[in-house]
Amino acid sequence: MSSSTEPSLVTTPSPARPAGRLFATRRTDRWWLEPLIIFGVLSAFVLYATWRAFANKYYYIEPYQSPFYSPCVAEDCIPGSDSLGRIVGGWYTMSPALLILIFPLGFRFTCYYYRRSYYRAFWVSPPACAVAEPHPKNTGESRWPLLIQNSHRLWFYFALAFNVILTWDAVLAFRAPDGTGFFHMGLGSLVLTANAVFLWIYTLSCHSCRNAVGGRLRHFSKHPIRYRLWTWVSRMNVFHNRFAWASLFSVAFADFYVYGVASGLFSDPRFF
Ligand code: FES
Repeated sequence: MSSSTEPSLVTTPSPARPAGRLFATRRTDRWWLEPLIIFGVLSAFVLYATWRAFANKYYYIEPYQSPFYSPCVAEDCIPGSDSLGRIVGGWYTMSPALLILIFPLGFRFTCYYYRRSYYRAFWVSPPACAVAEPHPKNTGESRWPLLIQNSHRLWFYFALAFNVILTWDAVLAFRAPDGTGFFHMGLGSLVLTANAVFLWIYTLSCHSCRNAVGGRLRHFSKHPIRYRLWTWVSRMNVFHNRFAWASLFSVAFADFYVYGVASGLFSDPRFF
């Protein structure tokens, strides 16, 4: 029983939705701006990535390869873009990007930060903090199809493998335009390198990475190396949302840069 001197818990009833308003909230700030921007940016990315994935051209020009088409493993890959080999065989005749984009997209789709973002922006579930859930029922991620979100750790390991491949592509981008000899550099070399860096920091700041390096330990004192790694990942994890956006922009820009050079839209400035 609570006495008059004890602090009491005050429960504030959810505000009713005022007539003419879409959402019930007492917030007076522009809470809708962030989900609106996220809706616009993610929609634009999905449209762009879909167009490029189905385009099936302008994804490789010596010494640059688009991250949307790497590794290129189909039979009709542009010569030079198949560093892992054309392992799929001749039965596959669609765009090579469709074979591999499932892995980076699966990683992003199940990312904890993106989930927060697109649940708010696309499904308004919930729209924002202190804004009432408009749906009559929310079963969360405990049922299909959202149960699939629990596969994030699996996609994390795929993402690591893709980062290695895209890092190798960035190294190859320092060859001469005819593909011979290293220690050359164009603007594209820097674009692909920056993209690889952003993808690494996005991946290494992942919550699953934090768990992989420091999870399931009873005593950090007995695992000093894992503790040190966990500390580094935890520091990066604070900025995971920024890395998520930076890497999304960088991967789209890297693809667009290769597209622009390969299609003749613009030329690649060479430094040496
Ligand atoms: Fe965002 Fe893992 S939580 S990539």
